[in-house]
Amino acid sequence: MREMLGMVMALVLLGLRPANANIGHCEDEKCFSIHANTANFSAASRACKDQGGNLMSVRTEQTSSALSDLLENSNVTGDFWLGLEYVDARCLDSTGGLKGYKWVTGDDTTHYSNWKIADAVCFSRCVSVSKNAQTWNERSCQEILQGYLCEYDTTEYCHPLGTNASYKTPFGFTSDNLNKIPSGSRTTAQPLGTRHLCVSGAWIQGPWGCEVFGGGCEHDCETTLQGHVCICPVGFKIDMNGVTCSQNDDPCARAGCAQECFSSGATFVCACGPGFQLHADGKACEDINECTDTSACLGAHKQCVNTLGSFKCQCAPGFEDNKAGACVDVDECASGPCEHNCEDTIGSYNCSCGEGFRQPKEDMHKCERYCPTFECPADCDVNNNAQCHCPYGFIVEDDTCFDIDECDSGSCDQVCENTPGSYVCSCEEGFRLIDNGICVKDEFEGSGTSDPFDSFTPTSRPPAAKRASLSAGSLLGIMVCTVISILLLVCLVHCVRKKMHHYDVYKGHDEIYDFQQVIIDKTTYLSYPNRYLKRET
Ligand SMILES: *[C@@H]1O[C@H](CO)[C@@H](O)[C@H](O)[C@H]1NC(C)=O
Ligand SMILES: *[C@@H]1O[C@H](CO)[C@@H](O)[C@H](O)[C@H]1NC(C)=O
Ligand SMILES: *[C@@H]1O[C@H](CO)[C@@H](O)[C@H](O)[C@H]1NC(C)=O
Ligand SMILES: *[C@@H]1O[C@H](CO)[C@@H](O)[C@H](O)[C@H]1NC(C)=O
Repeated sequence: MREMLGMVMALVLLGLRPANANIGHCEDEKCFSIHANTANFSAASRACKDQGGNLMSVRTEQTSSALSDLLENSNVTGDFWLGLEYVDARCLDSTGGLKGYKWVTGDDTTHYSNWKIADAVCFSRCVSVSKNAQTWNERSCQEILQGYLCEYDTTEYCHPLGTNASYKTPFGFTSDNLNKIPSGSRTTAQPLGTRHLCVSGAWIQGPWGCEVFGGGCEHDCETTLQGHVCICPVGFKIDMNGVTCSQNDDPCARAGCAQECFSSGATFVCACGPGFQLHADGKACEDINECTDTSACLGAHKQCVNTLGSFKCQCAPGFEDNKAGACVDVDECASGPCEHNCEDTIGSYNCSCGEGFRQPKEDMHKCERYCPTFECPADCDVNNNAQCHCPYGFIVEDDTCFDIDECDSGSCDQVCENTPGSYVCSCEEGFRLIDNGICVKDEFEGSGTSDPFDSFTPTSRPPAAKRASLSAGSLLGIMVCTVISILLLVCLVHCVRKKMHHYDVYKGHDEIYDFQQVIIDKTTYLSYPNRYLKRET
């Protein structure tokens, strides 16, 4: 039984490629099928091989009439390849038999021939037939014809099962008028809908081995110790025929209730477990948010947390359970989270810094040296008094930090105000501050129309329109603007160079902070004669 199924499986696997609606016929030890798929000779030959056969050979009168039946009973038109090919490149003197042609199987034996033209052939040709002209027509093998005819060897047949059955053969065609049914064919028998497989000339009823066509099961096949059984999806049960499934009678089986279902006769009602309520659709269950009830968690510093189907009470952040059910303040300072001072508060804590320090905005736990005046004590290494640190914008001398007067080095274009550790640039009336402390004439001041630079307001006009209507005024504006830009550039270069000359450490405005927190030992410092690094002029 197992070997037989294996054989059937081999046939079946060859026939798994879906074939275009075809008609077939079986007699003696062959089945024939007609395929309405356009192909040249080699593609047609390949297609038959893929189905486990070859292009059709017509060696007897009997096969010829089978071919006629096939062509006439099927709904096809056009030319169809036969399995006859002339591969010689020389003229043979033969006009009888196959005229030097060979069947695709490689032999040239025949009891029959039906040439359209009896002449000898001198170059590569192939043979086709059509419904209207069933004589053998020689033509170029490269031609694309409407289809082809295949043949399959088969030795074992089953008898027809019932009167009206349709058989799905392993050769890619389905037929309902086969007198002999080749092994590997399947059919469904009415009225029960039992499924049958022809194995070694005998029908077996499904479910057969799950590995062959899923045992013939409609849904799924399962191999158990007892054999093969068909199984059905939830809400369905297996039918009498053992292969198909139909819906269960219990209305709950297909009710689609998310949690619970109660049925009575043909009606059902869905229900939900504790902590859930029925959704408006009558099937789904949704979580109840118990925390909307303010009395869910009573007690000081307690917090309600909703969970799926329930809720829990826990202590608010900064509080912990004292093992007696109360939430008490946590002394966060015990773990030393602050760099300097820590003060515990109810539910939280507060960091602060010692004299001369402040908390940086990015981390309130830390403390950084801070100097709110122009002169502060330096942060010196206790072991090496020559190593003192100052905040940004200060310079160290002995044990003191002195503010750097950035204004003195021309850091701003127009107005400069020195502040502890930094400086602020501003511009005179009618000017506007841009990057690097530079002031430019404020073009946006005054009424739009009278200003010659108005045409350069970025949003004033779309660029295309601007080019099209470039007036004399605009041209003048462009020129004035270009001149101002060049002047500004020259001025900038000049300022920078001047600064570099007088103030070697400065490389540009961007690097003003290079001064910050530098550890300058006294010898280096001495090369600057003046504490404020004043201009030499
Ligand atoms: C055969 O072809 C004709 C016309 O093309 C069509 O009306 C008929 O339904 C076809 N029959 C089958 C069995 O395909
Ligand atoms: C036949 O057709 C196939 C594809 O349809 C193509 O790949 C092949 O080259 C053709 N062969 C000849 C000999 O024309
Ligand atoms: C055979 O099939 C035809 C059409 O499918 C149907 O009308 C007829 O009743 C069937 N006969 C039997 C015996 O099942
Ligand atoms: C810490 O305490 C000070 C003074 O009471 C207050 O200004 C500051 O906002 C507090 N900081 C935090 C993080 O609570």
